[in-house]
Amino acid sequence: MSSLYQNKYKDLIELNNLPEHIAVIMDGNGRWAKKQGKPRVFGHKNGVKAVREATEACAEIGIKYLTLYAFSTENWNRPSFEVTALMELLVLTIGREVKTLQKNNIRLNAIGNLSSLPSKTRIELEKAIEATKNNTRMTLTLALSYGSREEIFEAFLKMAQDFKDEKINLQELNPESIKNYLQTSQIPDPELLIRTSGECRVSNFLLWQIAYTEFIFTDKLWPEIGKEDFYSFIYQYQQRERRFGKTSEQINS
Ligand code: FPP
Repeated sequence: MSSLYQNKYKDLIELNNLPEHIAVIMDGNGRWAKKQGKPRVFGHKNGVKAVREATEACAEIGIKYLTLYAFSTENWNRPSFEVTALMELLVLTIGREVKTLQKNNIRLNAIGNLSSLPSKTRIELEKAIEATKNNTRMTLTLALSYGSREEIFEAFLKMAQDFKDEKINLQELNPESIKNYLQTSQIPDPELLIRTSGECRVSNFLLWQIAYTEFIFTDKLWPEIGKEDFYSFIYQYQQRERRFGKTSEQINS
């Protein structure tokens, strides 16, 4: 492939119209491995390469927030050897990539029920989050043991407690107030959500935050994803007209 072709989408992207936040449901690692006659964990290992490609592509072009759904609350129901392998892969990857994150001024963040992670994984994650906390180029958020309904439920519990403690009153509340109680309170809502592997569902990911998000579903399996795919997703996003309930005429006038 010529470098001209490789840069096809990157060169078409309008840099003044980038999504600020891209969220990704990384799917298809298992099927990708099966296609090669390999165990599922082989797919996850190759999924890490795609994580690197996605992170580099987003940082290079100027995306400020990238959120990756790495492990859902439902994923705990997978065979225990796969869960263990994924947790070990996370420890290894985070440990190995923290220097690269530092060098590239990328802040690592995590959402989800982190206390349910094995202590080795949690400690490695906390170390990397602490080490990168002052980085400003991009925030890479890993959703780990994450479930959006659980996140919303926790938010309601905290709100109810604040109401009981007279820290908030009902007259001051509005739909935006809910955002302050979510784990993503410091992150803008994603303008773009990508899911790989041909599945067209959101699987309990960022349910509150994706009210106005543009979706891209691609048949490619996660380990097949490279930088140029990411540029093509951003380009596709830029061809959409985001109307937020208004008419096309209102948007363009
Ligand atoms: C979905 O494919 C993938 C996962 C549940 C795990 C994603 C994990 C990684 C890419 C590796 C580690 C990540 C980081 C952030 C370092 P699947 O197993 O559901 O595939 P299938 O649908 O084909 O079975």
